[in-house]
Amino acid sequence: MSKVTVVGAGNVGATCANVLLFKEVADDIVLLDIKEGISEGKALDMTQTVGFLGCDSRIKGVTNDYSATEKSDVVIITSGIPRKPGMTREELIGVNAGIVKGVAENILKYSPDAVIIVVSNPMDTMAYLTLKATGLPKNRVIGMGGALDSARFKCYLSRALNVNPNEVEGLVIGGHGDTTMIPLTRFATYKGLPVSNLLDAEKLNKVVSDTMVGGATLTGLLGTSAWYAPGAAVGYLTESIIYDQKKVISCCVALDGEYGQKDICIGVPVVIGKNGWEKIIDYKLNAKEQELFDKSAEAVRNTNNVLKEIKVL
Ligand code: NAI
Ligand code: 2OP
Repeated sequence: MSKVTVVGAGNVGATCANVLLFKEVADDIVLLDIKEGISEGKALDMTQTVGFLGCDSRIKGVTNDYSATEKSDVVIITSGIPRKPGMTREELIGVNAGIVKGVAENILKYSPDAVIIVVSNPMDTMAYLTLKATGLPKNRVIGMGGALDSARFKCYLSRALNVNPNEVEGLVIGGHGDTTMIPLTRFATYKGLPVSNLLDAEKLNKVVSDTMVGGATLTGLLGTSAWYAPGAAVGYLTESIIYDQKKVISCCVALDGEYGQKDICIGVPVVIGKNGWEKIIDYKLNAKEQELFDKSAEAVRNTNNVLKEIKVL
């Protein structure tokens, strides 16, 4: 029997729970929120979809009752405030740090062996906070950002190429921020062909810049941050853990010298299986890519330093 808890029943959490239910990623799904009734209501609504969707997983909603999350294999933290138009992910730190830390502590009381997926922004810093505050083994803390950014990269690549997005490979590493993420154009392919052979520099640069502001574009359109692709990205990641699929996914993980960085959680390609992230894949960056990665790490580290300034860590 497998069990997944989603903390935060807002846009991202509820969408993620719905993906988990629809795809039968876990036998039991628990949706928890601090707002009275919201999780119960959304879970009941989702339960009434199973006859149409033909799925056998169960979902239960609870208001801040962590005992219901007991023995979860995976816990997804989406609780916190989202971006409003014009806001950066980094501006969310003060509020979200307190929420994420408290949630992680509560979760571990009931699921000491869970793999934790951190979604709340600024995600790289929230993943670092979760790792440091809980003292969990590094493999069991995974930040979700690169999977989503890579999906956006593939979306914009496929539009520029006018091809099926499922035939395109693309990877985004670095921080999950408008200026910190690094779409790796050198490794992006369409059916094995390097995209740099298919798109001129101007078009490729436009794909990169559209990808980097992909979240902000959606926030501008929606008035809050996106949820369908974020929810699907977390579902994809969770599925690889529950079914030990060993998918290679760009995730925010703790580096200990890999990609030239230490004491930081940041996006790199990793193998995701039942133990969480199991292995970092070394793409052997060239000098220019490494320079971008180091700059990205510096920006993430600056945000991490705020945790000390506001005395959360
Ligand atoms: P939302 O406002 O729709 O939902 C957040 C939910 O968290 C609310 O229902 C709220 O009641 C709940 N909450 C707040 N404090 C809580 C606590 N202590 N315990 C339990 N629940 C609590 O926000 P949305 O759009 O779902 O976004 C959630 C977070 O995810 C934001 O920080 C957002 O920036 C981030 N995000 C991250 C992405 C990524 O790729 N890493 C992508 C999209 C959003
Ligand atoms: C996103 O990328 C804001 O992190 C959120 O949509």
